[in-house]
Amino acid sequence: MAHALAKATLGLTLPAHIDPLKISFVAKEIDLVEWKGDMLAVGVTEKDMVKDVNSKFQNSILKKLDSQHGGLLFEVSKEEDFTGKAGQSAVLRLSGVGPKRVSLFGLGKCTTGSATSAYRCLGESVASAVKTYQANNAGITLASFEGLTSEMKLTAVSAIATGISLGTYEDNRFKSESKKPTLKSVEFLGFGAGPELEKKLKYTEDVCTGVILGKELVNSPANVLTPGVLAQEAEKIASTYSNVLTAKILDTEQCKELKMGSYLGVAAASANPPKFIHLCYKPPSGSVKKKLALVGKGLTFDSGGYNIKTGPGCSIELMKFDMGGSAAVLGAAKALGQIKPAGVEVTFGHASKSKHFGFSVHFIVAACENMISGTGMRPGDIVTASNGKTIEVNNTDAEGRLTLADALVYACNQGVDKIVDLATLTGACVVALGPSIAGVFTPSDELAKEVVAASEVAGEKLWRMPMEESYWESMKSGVADMVNTGGRQGGSILAALFLKQFVDEKVQWLHIDMAGPVWNDKKKTATGFAISTLVEWVLSNSSS
Ligand code: BES
Ligand code: MN
Ligand code: ZN
Repeated sequence: MAHALAKATLGLTLPAHIDPLKISFVAKEIDLVEWKGDMLAVGVTEKDMVKDVNSKFQNSILKKLDSQHGGLLFEVSKEEDFTGKAGQSAVLRLSGVGPKRVSLFGLGKCTTGSATSAYRCLGESVASAVKTYQANNAGITLASFEGLTSEMKLTAVSAIATGISLGTYEDNRFKSESKKPTLKSVEFLGFGAGPELEKKLKYTEDVCTGVILGKELVNSPANVLTPGVLAQEAEKIASTYSNVLTAKILDTEQCKELKMGSYLGVAAASANPPKFIHLCYKPPSGSVKKKLALVGKGLTFDSGGYNIKTGPGCSIELMKFDMGGSAAVLGAAKALGQIKPAGVEVTFGHASKSKHFGFSVHFIVAACENMISGTGMRPGDIVTASNGKTIEVNNTDAEGRLTLADALVYACNQGVDKIVDLATLTGACVVALGPSIAGVFTPSDELAKEVVAASEVAGEKLWRMPMEESYWESMKSGVADMVNTGGRQGGSILAALFLKQFVDEKVQWLHIDMAGPVWNDKKKTATGFAISTLVEWVLSNSSS
């Protein structure tokens, strides 16, 4: 993303252009004992660690590796108390011509429900071990493939590759010095091989590219990533995949013409002008039958406005992440630009008569900055959204919903069938669900099912919350159609009820509050949350 940022920013910071790390992933069918390289990593469940009558490995793969290395593997597992629990590892350094290291990584119980996340963690552990030992290549296998269908093997390979890709990735664009990751190639051993696996690996790589873009957008500070730069990034995605994506960027004047008073009210204090971003995906061929929209909150910074964020725990210094929803939307756009899903081919009568039922996806972001100045919105101001509804702004810090109001009206005007919106909308949602689970709000059981199913495949955590209509009482205004904040209780539900005022009833709509999962506090970095879920969801719509 360095190109679009060629202009020096406030503070004279320019992100360095670092070439994306390219790890080659391949699947091979060879005998494990013949593998040579820097690190042979074995995923081991607790069950795989059950001992035989001589208290040695019972598992045939572990047994084979152990005898190849003169019993050292068993010794190291004992010395390091390795029992296969999730997060555990044991590493054996060897000399000679085979692998330089053999390492065991715990998969825990690895039941059907937890397998995807266990495999992803395995990938992340491998990535961190590779970093420690500066390995250039790795071979990955499992101690047991028993009961794994070929479909499950594909899922495992994909989850492990995701863990490795994202685990090795480090955002060093703003560091004056950084080490390059060493890992160049990964071989999957025993998972099968062939075109289906290769296709899955390509898909995984495409999704990871989107996730990394999303992380970089969120990590970029607000002095570098202004609404204008976010818009340039969107245009760059469209021009890179110009056969399927087009971009339209609306400036302040054009938004005024569309009567987006709610969004423009939020943007009014900033010296950086707002940009309304609209990308559109159309399949390479065929007619469009289904229209989807992904709408993302795009506050490149949220100071709170006149209701400024103050006091300990308000996290004002982290509010560059308030465009996490838009990063998810643009990350998904990039991934889809690479995957180029075509839609479904439907055949009538004779095999010769087939028709393509394509779908389009609209990616929509009302990008701006919530700042403080003499031109800004005051608490108590009444703004008018593009559907004509009036809002008494009793709190300028509830700005996300004001920008989304006009973005949702715009999305509905595109004639879409379904909308998913994503936003770092409320601290209340973080209080309710903690840092790693996003809240889902929708009147549609059907859409909830679709999106939750996609999130399970993607290994991201969503939890459906109620849309309690009776709570709307506290959102009533004495002078306008509504206020923008009700009481403190049920804050994330009130926000969702507010958004609902701006969605056509005939459109299926689902809102994701990702205020918690957007950021990893421990690692002090963006997560890229929701991108793989969105890609899965869009693809599930293209094949049904
Ligand atoms: N961007 C914040 C929500 C947020 C807060 C995300 C903390 C992540 C961590 C949003 O614009 C906001 O300020 N919401 C207010 C709403 C309130 C004024 C009703 C909040 O959650 O405090
Ligand atoms: Mn706010
Ligand atoms: Zn905000």
